[in-house]
Amino acid sequence: MAETLPPAVYHDPGIHDLELEKIFRRDWICLGRLAEIPAPGDYLCRDIAASPVIVVRQKDGSVKALANICAHRATRLLECDGHVSRISCPYHSWTYAIDGQLIGAPFMQDTPGFDIARYRLKELACDTWEGFIYVSLDTNAQSLATRLGALTDLVGDFRMADYVPVFSQVDTWDANWKCLVENYMDAYHIHRVHKNSFGKYGASEDWTKLFDGEDAFSYHYVQEDEDPRSVSAHPNNTWLKGDNRNRTYLINIFPAHTIQLQPDMLWYLSILPQGTECLEVRWGVSIPGEILEAAAVKQEHIDDLMQLLHQVNSEDQPIVENLGRSTRSPEATRGPLSYLERNVWQFGRYLSRALSA
Ligand SMILES: [Fe+2]
Repeated sequence: MAETLPPAVYHDPGIHDLELEKIFRRDWICLGRLAEIPAPGDYLCRDIAASPVIVVRQKDGSVKALANICAHRATRLLECDGHVSRISCPYHSWTYAIDGQLIGAPFMQDTPGFDIARYRLKELACDTWEGFIYVSLDTNAQSLATRLGALTDLVGDFRMADYVPVFSQVDTWDANWKCLVENYMDAYHIHRVHKNSFGKYGASEDWTKLFDGEDAFSYHYVQEDEDPRSVSAHPNNTWLKGDNRNRTYLINIFPAHTIQLQPDMLWYLSILPQGTECLEVRWGVSIPGEILEAAAVKQEHIDDLMQLLHQVNSEDQPIVENLGRSTRSPEATRGPLSYLERNVWQFGRYLSRALSA
């Protein structure tokens, strides 16, 4: 029988260092969605394994990932998400174009040997998949089209790149990053933790089907029917066929990008460790355009969905933080996993592969 991870894995500083080196400095890390930075100069900001990173929309519509570190004294340049026409260092005003090229360095013209053209922000590997932006600190990372090809075959018909962003936020929770990844992919806790939200109309455990996934991802889905309370595609959505019209996919793109994809919404988390005892999660919500266009009152539709998801989060956070504390106990032991926790087991297998590579 499959078992949970050894509790020490959530707290051991040596394991944490190994995760940063072998996972977060190697794998593709989701920073957000293309639709969240639509205009040139729009940017998203995260720290991946102590490396501050920005992704910036370029004038030609492409997206670049740049080290968020000044080429002069290594000052951190930008905070949070936002918009810039150029990137200016808060220390000595070195200024960069949004493609990372240094274009201004006050007083440096009087410094012998200084050539402005020689300096730029370090460019990092950046790739996109289904409207999500990913960065890798490893220049040899395999392309996402290859890595996630099988997942594209599964969910490509949803056209989630076209879903319209309506919300995003960065939160910190007091728990190891793995506790939240596992919780999001745990199909077993809905009947208890979410009995007043996702589980309100019955045990989704009964409608859940689990699959093997691949080396780069795991997934399960919840298959509903045409009951008016079910998840469903809008009648104006003519491209989604068959059971997909009433299906919710729960996906973990390893290591820490989780997605709940439905024909009527997309909810994603991008989770990063902040030491062993704390995590940072950027979460975002998007809604298909045809649903927003048809909503009687657009803002009301968004508010209703956000109320539900804030409720779900407020149900998850205490239990995840509970685990963050309880797994520190010397009495904590490994437990048996249910068939509904298959994706938790698959995440453990990914960790084992990645950390021993
Ligand atoms: Fe949950």
